[in-house]
Amino acid sequence: MPKKTSSSRRVLVTGGAGFIGSHTVDQLLAENVDVLVVDNLATGRIENLDAACTSPSFRFEQIDVTHSGTLSRILEAFQPHAIIHLAALVSVQESIENPALNFKRNVLATQTIIDAAQRGMVENIVFASSAAIYGDNPELPLQESAKKQPLSPYGGAKLASEALLLAAANTYKLKVTANRYFNVYGPRQDPKSPYSGVMSIFLDRFAQGVAPIVFGDGQQTRDFINVQDVARMNVLATKSNQSGFNAVNVCTGKSTSLLDILDELRLHFPDAPETVFKEARTGDIIHSLGCPNSARELLDFTASISLREGLAQYLQSTTRSSALLR
Ligand code: UD1
Repeated sequence: MPKKTSSSRRVLVTGGAGFIGSHTVDQLLAENVDVLVVDNLATGRIENLDAACTSPSFRFEQIDVTHSGTLSRILEAFQPHAIIHLAALVSVQESIENPALNFKRNVLATQTIIDAAQRGMVENIVFASSAAIYGDNPELPLQESAKKQPLSPYGGAKLASEALLLAAANTYKLKVTANRYFNVYGPRQDPKSPYSGVMSIFLDRFAQGVAPIVFGDGQQTRDFINVQDVARMNVLATKSNQSGFNAVNVCTGKSTSLLDILDELRLHFPDAPETVFKEARTGDIIHSLGCPNSARELLDFTASISLREGLAQYLQSTTRSSALLR
C-alpha cells in the first residue's frame, strides 16, 4: 500500500463493514477524511460499504485485527491520525456460548490495537464500549461512575478492554475515548438472530406482515439511540482535545418502552397483526437509561435524531433495500 502523502486526516476503522462501522465510515468520508477499513467480514458486510467504495479517499483490507503483524504493517503504511476500534464479537449470546472466542475478539484484539497504535505513534483511539458493562443497575440514569457489574462475558470483555486502554493512555500518553453505546438502532442492523436489536426485529416482522413478539409485558424501557448519532460521536471523538482516557455514555437520556415503539411502528403499519406476548427472557434488564451529560461536556455531543424521525428514516431505507432485492 502506498504511503500517504496528502495532508488530509487519516482514520483507520476496524470493523468498518459492520452496522455502526459503515455509518461511521460514511460520515468520515463526508468530512473529507482518508479512511482505511480493516474488517474480517465475519459479521460485517461489504455491501454496507457500497457508497464508501465509490470514494477515492476510501480503502478496504480484509484482515482480522488479531493478526498483529499484518495490522502493524498496514498501520505503518497508512499512518493514521486516529483509530476507531469497532471490530468485535457483537453477540452477547455467542459470548456466553464461546467465551474463549469472546476473549480473543473483544480483549486480545484491543491489546493488538494498543500495541499497533503505540508502535505506529497513533495518538487517538476511539473504542466501542457498551452499556453492558453496567449490568442491571437500578441507579438510573446511569452515570459513567456507576458500579460496573457486567452480566455476560461480552460485558466483561468490554470492561477489561477499557481497563487496558486506561492503562495504555496513562503509560503511553494516548488519547482514548471509550464510547459506551446504549441501544443503537437504524439502517443496516441485522435482524436475523433472535438476539438482534429489538428494533431491527420488530421492523423486519412488520415489513413481512408477521406479528411482533414481546418478551414480558412490553413495559421494559431502553435508551434507544440512532446509529447516525452514534457515528457522529465516533467521528467527534477522533478530534477530541481531551487528554488521557475518557469513558462516555453514548445515549439520549430518554427512556422508551417497547409498547411505545410498537405504537409508533403501527402508525406506519396500521394493518399489522396483533402483538404476541411471551414470558420475559431470563436475565432481561427491565429499565436501562444513560446520562448523556459527560458526552456533552467533554465532546459537545448531544443526540439529535428523535425516535420518531429515526424510525421513519429506518423504515424508508428498509423499504428501499427490499425494493432493490425484488
Ligand atoms: C442490549 C444489547 C446488548 C447489551 C445490553 C446492555 C443489542 C442487540 N443488545 O441488550 O448487547 O449487553 O443492551 O445493556 O443491542 N425483545 C422483545 N422481542 C424481541 C426481541 C427483544 O421483546 O423480538 C426485548 C428483550 O427481551 C429486551 C428488549 O426487547 O427486553 C431489548 O432487547 P435487545 O434489543 O436485545 O437489547 P438489550 O436487551 O437491551
